[in-house]
Amino acid sequence: MDSIRIIGGSRLEGRVPISGAKNAALPILCAALLSDGDHVFRNVPELEDIRTLAELLRQLNQEVEFGGGVFRVKGRAVEAPVAPYELVKKMRASVLVLGPLVARYGEAIVSLPGGCAIGARPIDQHLKGLELMGAKIDLTHGNVHVKVPRGRLTAAEIVFDIPTVTGTENLMCAAALAEGRTTLVNAAREPEVEELARVLNKMGANVVGAGTDMIVIDGVEELDPVDHAIMPDRIEAGTYMVAAAMTHGDVLVDGVTFEHLEAVAAKLRAAGVEVEREDSGVRVARRGPLRAVDVTTAPHPGFPTDMQAQFMVLMCAAEGQSRITETIFENRFMHVPELNRMGADIDIHGRTATITGVPKLQGANVMATDLRASASLIIAGLVAEGETEVRRVYHLDRGYEHIERKLAGLGANIRRVKGSL
Ligand code: EPU
Repeated sequence: MDSIRIIGGSRLEGRVPISGAKNAALPILCAALLSDGDHVFRNVPELEDIRTLAELLRQLNQEVEFGGGVFRVKGRAVEAPVAPYELVKKMRASVLVLGPLVARYGEAIVSLPGGCAIGARPIDQHLKGLELMGAKIDLTHGNVHVKVPRGRLTAAEIVFDIPTVTGTENLMCAAALAEGRTTLVNAAREPEVEELARVLNKMGANVVGAGTDMIVIDGVEELDPVDHAIMPDRIEAGTYMVAAAMTHGDVLVDGVTFEHLEAVAAKLRAAGVEVEREDSGVRVARRGPLRAVDVTTAPHPGFPTDMQAQFMVLMCAAEGQSRITETIFENRFMHVPELNRMGADIDIHGRTATITGVPKLQGANVMATDLRASASLIIAGLVAEGETEVRRVYHLDRGYEHIERKLAGLGANIRRVKGSL
């Protein structure tokens, strides 16, 4: 298994290009199941999660080609609408085939995703919505079997108990081919939901209100294939913004949409970091000390849970004490013990971490059990004294395209070591 070695102390400077968004690409590629014909998706990041999804689509009888950022799907009738355990356990987002399959074929069997490193992550809201649209749900042998007795889903008013990103995406796809007008209330407002709506509308769907908490979908009988370039990855961008701030750097994070990062930019500014909106992205520079700021994660447009671990590392270098409260996932502090091994001073009480700034971090062998926690350890390594080795790099490879190449391009002393333990 590969690891990443970093020698801390280099200042990051220059321009870093941002890749297409993983969490936008995943639901959009699943939406290809809604129509036969030739789909072309561009700016698709070359990530492990995308390769897993390619495998799943192939198992569903789709012809898939992926390379050079272009993902082609030749949509064909699905013979067995099944997402097997082997793929769902590798990637929870496999559950995103549920909405499209049930909408198009009136049936799907998807292995139930179990809990994962960051929390229990149930899918009850996805299932409740499908049930309200006329589906029967059976949970047997670890699978969820969804069947629509009358063949086609019917529209419904669905009020989510909590906003769920993939739940909103699944039900938007389901409603796109349902009979009548579906309303999703308390819907997730994430930019990735808006991006999926754009794609569905290009395919001939009628989706209005994505990006707000109420989405209205008028179902149509069929959809067309689509050609679409995926939006930039706001979480990858936010990660490089924090890395720039951490290293007293000056970096143009290129190609990102500033509006997607307002909450992160506001907290960086409050911490004393310069954040400027440029024509093509965001410029982040740090010239002075960091102030401690408190952060509470929240659904969009609040501070994203996917940036919590990275921001916590930054607070390790701030003067004073900050509190970071995680409200989305119950177990998303996996990075804390590893950061403490690097000399950080972080205490956890329930959902809140108290971070006392330290003058320096020390390089160490570390590993993390999820994607964003791994990114936070890389950022810590960039400033730590001596060498840091981040293990279990496969987590990073699920979500950050060429991370060591991009950081090296900014001046970091970083390399991938193939096949280390
Ligand atoms: N929830 C339920 N029932 C449901 C669905 C969700 O209780 O039916 C709970 C979850 O357990 C969680 C909260 O609702 O406590 C929000 O979860 P959500 O469903 O919004 O998360 P998700 O759709 O499974 C997506 C991203 C995550 C990101 C979260 C929150 C994708 C593929 N994944 O997950 O991304 O953290 O939204 O923004 O879009 C990552 O990229 O590292 C990552 C984990």
